[in-house]
Amino acid sequence: MNNTMFETATIGGIEVQNRIFRSATFEGLATKEGRVSPAMKEMYRSLAKGGVGMIITGYMGFSASDNYSPSTINVGNDSAVGPLAELAKIVHDNGSRIVAQISHVGSQLTFAPSQIVLGPSDVTDPANGIQPEPFTREQIRELVKEFGQAALRLKTAGFDGVQIHGAHGYLLSKFLSPVYNRRTDEYGGSPEKNVRIILEVVESIKTACGPDFPVWIKLNCSDFGREEKAYGFDDFMITAKAVADSGVDAIEVSGGTMTGRHSPCRSKIHSAYHLDEARKTAAELDLPIICVGGFRKVDELETVLAETNIAAVSMCRPLIREPGLVNRWAGGDRSDAACVACNGCFNPTGTRCFFELQGKEREAQKEVMKMMKAMRGNDA
Ligand SMILES: Cc1cc2nc3c(=O)[nH]c(=O)nc-3n(C[C@H](O)[C@H](O)[C@H](O)COP(=O)(O)O)c2cc1C
Repeated sequence: MNNTMFETATIGGIEVQNRIFRSATFEGLATKEGRVSPAMKEMYRSLAKGGVGMIITGYMGFSASDNYSPSTINVGNDSAVGPLAELAKIVHDNGSRIVAQISHVGSQLTFAPSQIVLGPSDVTDPANGIQPEPFTREQIRELVKEFGQAALRLKTAGFDGVQIHGAHGYLLSKFLSPVYNRRTDEYGGSPEKNVRIILEVVESIKTACGPDFPVWIKLNCSDFGREEKAYGFDDFMITAKAVADSGVDAIEVSGGTMTGRHSPCRSKIHSAYHLDEARKTAAELDLPIICVGGFRKVDELETVLAETNIAAVSMCRPLIREPGLVNRWAGGDRSDAACVACNGCFNPTGTRCFFELQGKEREAQKEVMKMMKAMRGNDA
């Protein structure tokens, strides 16, 4: 086995110290102005010190047409740059790299909207019963421009790249879905038309930031939807090829939505659950593929990275529980990640491992977990 997991590599235009990444993890820790808080800096410091090769941030909002929650980082204006530069510096000073995930939530809200909710079409979101208004073409043009401006702010702040959130039922993945995208203009009607908005976003970012600034994307290999025409692997391959041709530098392969047969964050009975799709994608496309979802065993990571074309493996929940997991493995303690995939880290007061909580906080979070389980079933 050719084991290069813990060696320096260049992936998606960025030199990294190893091929184990932190997948985007919403922090819920921004200040009420949408800025980096001291708690967020500590989270990123401990992750970087823990040896992870790349940190992909939790999704950041930026668009005037979006309804992201108040605890989200807002990169929609230039005053975001200073605090974000401090965050990027903390990560770099501790040997890791940082890519910012940028997103539009669309209709998949878990809180009351502050303004009109927009989507590709007026199909009701089963996550919350919200019926969005369709984006006009003018509003799409504005959003595409805003993506470029947000990416430029992040570049100015010293981030190593951006990742477009095209997965999990948020706006861009709704555009990709034939269930939610019923448009009859150039932005809908076939897999080739459904991806058009993403291709325009990539172009906008590359124009704003220059061709060498790394642009990654996270995509669903399938929505695992309950509907007959739900977005599936064949649609994904068309999307992935188009995105690769557009000059995107890396694709992270994920899957599922809040209301599908599988959520992106499955329970511990599932392991490495997007591996088959990521392996096929990596065999077919000539760009780095990152695979996320259910990795807990170092031997498994090693085998995947040695025996497939997959460039990197990313994890989310295991690094919430153990920010130092990569150094632990690299240092010779190869026992499995301690994470039990309970999803108790989805905490409305800020992302934290359930096992850190004590007393009243722990009891309150148990209620949140019961509600989530009722909503999503056993899979999540
Ligand atoms: C608390 C929490 C927050 C998350 N936030 C994001 C996010 O902001 N953007 C995103 O693309 N995925 C997000 N995810 C999904 C993860 O990136 C990842 O795809 C999923 O958890 C599966 O990986 P894992 O099994 O290693 O946890 C989040 C997951 C959790 C548990």
